[in-house]
Amino acid sequence: MILVGELAGLPPGESVRVQGEVAIAVFNVDGELYAIDDTCSHQDASLSDGWLEGCAVECPLHAACFDLRTGQPSGPPAKKPVRTHAVSIEDGLIYVHESTRVTVGGAVVEEVG
Ligand code: FES
Repeated sequence: MILVGELAGLPPGESVRVQGEVAIAVFNVDGELYAIDDTCSHQDASLSDGWLEGCAVECPLHAACFDLRTGQPSGPPAKKPVRTHAVSIEDGLIYVHESTRVTVGGAVVEEVG
């Protein structure tokens, strides 16, 4: 479990990068928190520096969009999904529960770590 910080420090529309086994990006989408691997699956870009569009983030380098709920890219140039991670809030603090799996439609397609 990774401590992200205070919920009050991550207002809607904002994102933050934390370090787990790999870097993880945490987003606040209208009060719902989502966490995905921070590094784009296409090249070395930080998705926490991307642009939020509803429940998706647009990569700042080549504009692939990733669904924050599934980690799936909506189209090229990214082809592979990024991992999603569970987020919880306890006593006003945000925690990420790092996943080791990349899943597509419930099926594990990759184990990391
Ligand atoms: S690095 Fe993200 S789309 Fe190319």
